[in-house]
Amino acid sequence: MELQNLKQQDPEIFALISKEAERQNSEIELIASENYASLAVLEALATPLANKYSEGYPGKRYYGGNLVIDDIENIAIARAKELFSAEHVNVQPLSGSPANAAVYMAFLEPGDTILGLKLDHGGHLSHGHPVNFSGRLYNFVQYGVNPETGLIDMAEVRRLALEHQPKMIVAGFSAYSREIDWQAFQDIATEIGAYSFADIAHIAGLIAAGELKNPVPIFDVVSTTTHKTLRGPRGAIIMCKEKYAAQVNRAVFPGMQGGPHDNMTAAKAVAFGEALKPEFKEYSRQVILNAQAMAREFIAKGYKIVSGGTDNHLFIVDFSEREYSGKDAEKKLELAGISVSRSTIPNDPNPPMNPSGIRIGAPAITTRGLKESDAIELVALIIRVIEGDEKEGLVVKEEIKNLCQKFPVYY
Ligand SMILES: Cc1ncc(COP(=O)(O)O)c(C=O)c1O
Repeated sequence: MELQNLKQQDPEIFALISKEAERQNSEIELIASENYASLAVLEALATPLANKYSEGYPGKRYYGGNLVIDDIENIAIARAKELFSAEHVNVQPLSGSPANAAVYMAFLEPGDTILGLKLDHGGHLSHGHPVNFSGRLYNFVQYGVNPETGLIDMAEVRRLALEHQPKMIVAGFSAYSREIDWQAFQDIATEIGAYSFADIAHIAGLIAAGELKNPVPIFDVVSTTTHKTLRGPRGAIIMCKEKYAAQVNRAVFPGMQGGPHDNMTAAKAVAFGEALKPEFKEYSRQVILNAQAMAREFIAKGYKIVSGGTDNHLFIVDFSEREYSGKDAEKKLELAGISVSRSTIPNDPNPPMNPSGIRIGAPAITTRGLKESDAIELVALIIRVIEGDEKEGLVVKEEIKNLCQKFPVYY
């Protein structure tokens, strides 16, 4: 890494940044919500755009000197519209949770009823968990997955919708491996006169590439982070029908946020430009093939996978019938240079901090260039670590380092 000025001026922080870059390069990343943004995206982040204040929107700012920033924000908007066939896009949300807060604020009043997926069935904290602002400010009713199939139970969604008459129905997840039937959600929302909101934070890249179905043309409003399968900078965007544009924009600024982070806006534009290229479609296809190859290999080796497989970039390995937890597996794998996240399984008998599963995702390894045969090799290494002792973990750590050398992240 170059970073000449930082190295000279602040060797302490430079050394830690270098250490983390080296860790990322020499370890395997299987956290489903992470990815490696391109060097072009990282370069856009580290620019003087970070110095500017731009409260407001292109052509209507509260500060002078924003003509260049207007051009950048307009390009980010135009590319996102093209990518998702969106009528209106707000590219200013700072991250996924603030974006979701702005969506609720744009359409609802505190205390209103919302229907969302339970956290331990794959939902996100911002979909109504009691410790989150969403669960504290709104009256969330939660649906889940069918305990037999692991699939979202659309009959239960409809039954709860008819019973509770929510003003909004949220579809979307952090840990669910099957394709969502967006039209079925929209039909239920239409039947009861609720707003439809899709949070596609995890699968936006796969949708942009045409590998999964797109809710944007049919839903009222859709949010996504930009740093997961979409492989951009940390951040988020909100997309909606043109008729909701003004209320969504007002909810983001001045409702939720002050000035946008213009360096992030530029980096989002760069990432959207990358996602519009044919190579991104190939990449996204490979993400799904790698996740499916890994899930199949776990099943072949006798492990249980929630819902029996995956249609997207992630899957959950269920250890409920084994003597170790998701946390135990996560810790052992970390020592062997493999990052995964512990995960609840539907109706988990164990608490969220020590749940019964791990979530495995393929976006980051696919960016490095791993293909199905490498992904299957990885599963063998994972099993050796979780079934083996500490010594075996250290042996695997060396094998992981060798594998990583074949697939450098940046250089
Ligand atoms: C479905 C979903 N929505 C929202 C978020 C929140 O995004 P952020 O961490 O950027 O606030 C996440 C993050 O994992 C997510 O999975």
